[in-house]
Amino acid sequence: MADQVLQDIKDRLDIIEVIGSYITLKKSGANYKASCPFHNEKSASLMVSAPKQIWHCFGCGEGGDIFGFVMRYENIEFRDSLKLLAQRAGVELPQYNRAAKDATPDESEALIRINDFAARFYHQSLLSPHGKTALDYLHSRGLTDGTIADWGIGFAPDDFHLLESALKQKGVTLEQMVRAGVSVKNDRGQMYDRFRNRITFPIKDYYGNVVGFTARILDDDTGQAQQAKYVNSPETPIYNKSKVLFGLHAAKEAIRKADEVVVVEGQMDVIMPHQAGFTNTVASSGTALTEQQLKQLGRLTKNIKFCFDADSAGLQATRRAGEIALQQGLRLKIIVLTDVKDPDELIRKGSGLWEKAVKEAVWFIDYYINRAANLHPSGSVEQKHYLSETVLPLLGYITDPVEQDHYVHSLSTDFLISEKVIRDELKKTASAQLAGVTSAQTSEAQFAQADPATRAQLSLEKQVLGGLLFSPEYVKFAQEQGLGDEMENPTLKQLANAALLGELDQSAVNGEVLAKEALFMVESQLDNLDNNELALMRELEKSLFLLKLASIKRRQQELTLEIKKLEKQNDNLGVEQLTKIFAELVGQRSNIEAQLAQ
Ligand code: UTP
Ligand code: MN
Repeated sequence: MADQVLQDIKDRLDIIEVIGSYITLKKSGANYKASCPFHNEKSASLMVSAPKQIWHCFGCGEGGDIFGFVMRYENIEFRDSLKLLAQRAGVELPQYNRAAKDATPDESEALIRINDFAARFYHQSLLSPHGKTALDYLHSRGLTDGTIADWGIGFAPDDFHLLESALKQKGVTLEQMVRAGVSVKNDRGQMYDRFRNRITFPIKDYYGNVVGFTARILDDDTGQAQQAKYVNSPETPIYNKSKVLFGLHAAKEAIRKADEVVVVEGQMDVIMPHQAGFTNTVASSGTALTEQQLKQLGRLTKNIKFCFDADSAGLQATRRAGEIALQQGLRLKIIVLTDVKDPDELIRKGSGLWEKAVKEAVWFIDYYINRAANLHPSGSVEQKHYLSETVLPLLGYITDPVEQDHYVHSLSTDFLISEKVIRDELKKTASAQLAGVTSAQTSEAQFAQADPATRAQLSLEKQVLGGLLFSPEYVKFAQEQGLGDEMENPTLKQLANAALLGELDQSAVNGEVLAKEALFMVESQLDNLDNNELALMRELEKSLFLLKLASIKRRQQELTLEIKKLEKQNDNLGVEQLTKIFAELVGQRSNIEAQLAQ
């Protein structure tokens, strides 16, 4: 990727305008301020600098340029932030190659264009005289014209080649139509439109591109009974079914704001709540949620509420998705429906009823404990079987020991089972589960847990580098203190070492976002300290000590493990040597702590 392209985009976009389009910025001195969207806060600790085109949050330590902001805010990869901002800036991106089985960007765009065209074609057809029956049906289900337009709902005419002819006129080849999923080629090589005489719901990806359809028959009980109620697009290079969530494009903002997502099964179960103002709703489209989908939601919020149909398929889907959600450390509740089949039905009875049901959602595990109480006579053997087969394995997925303990205790008192029996059983299932957990899941969980600590570390490192860039006096101080290997981030470490050697020039700083951010961080700190350079210096000195302290602590932890290992091997000499090093570190540590206390 040519740096020139990045620069072109940056030159054409203003960070104040870009970030300001996502969150509200307030002018504050030379900078702009906002409350940070990346951590919970009441005060405004996110600062944006127009001259530097950099942002930094003093609350959580995140920061960077426009690409970094968009990546975090939209939860997307760098490459996609580039696409988004290039589009915004009107800059054309050079081609790049991906794995052969994926579509090239060109093909993806072509396939999206075909689906988008089909969506508009069907929507027009719904509003034409041919679509009257379909439109009447949608109205009878309570959808307004505004909702129908917002979701681009359409009608695929009862014809095998209508869409095909329209696409042909646009110069689209038959092969492309099949690749896009809108046409089918049968064994005898005949082509026909996939969706016929059905209501069409466009499926959009995270960015709002139409990537496929789900299409419903008009009426469940008139002659079409043998057909599937819904026909879906196949997997295509642009439609990955285990990734896409129906409605997420329209819901992501609301999910973030409400810090909660409601996951339902069907299209109508998403559209009806949105129409009623509950816009933090998405659908799994009738299947169990996948790990990828949950991960995507987990980046927007940790609070998930499921409302699946109360049939056995729904129960099974709930269970599987619930297990994954627990493993990912998500807080999961179940919305229980009584007397109705699904959310759509409940909302038609009254949106207040739906609101109440969502509010009264029960914790995932309580839901199963309640079932145990309701399904079987209290104290019966059946009930105990149900508990040990259904509820106990779930406890094993809980990552928080305090929460797990809570359930062990309440199971024991509510169902008169000794805590020891429960704990023994739990140990068995936990180790079986552990063996089944993929390494990807565990490393993901470890990463999530390590996050706050690494963030704090990164923040310290940025501040120290900022100090080095800002003040020659501080460089001297750092040299005296022997700043060396304490930084973890390779880029920051490299920059810091260059600064200590006096080898860092302005162009190197300008070329590195992290450096610019670090400098901005320190400069705005000075601003906050009413330009009191002495006070700033004290803050910076403190940061350097904290950085050293953190590094010593890490080294001590490593040593503790090594010493334990050597003890097991009865390596007395080794133990003695390492203990001596450990003691030296204790000495260094108390020196630093004394400095910090001054
Ligand atoms: P349901 O059968 O519960 O239908 O399927 P529904 O959502 O209540 O539909 P309406 O209210 O009668 O219109 C739930 C979801 O499962 C998928 C669809 O995404 C549907 O919304 N599904 C269902 C299919 O993909 N194919 C089918 O044949 C049926
Ligand atoms: Mn329904």
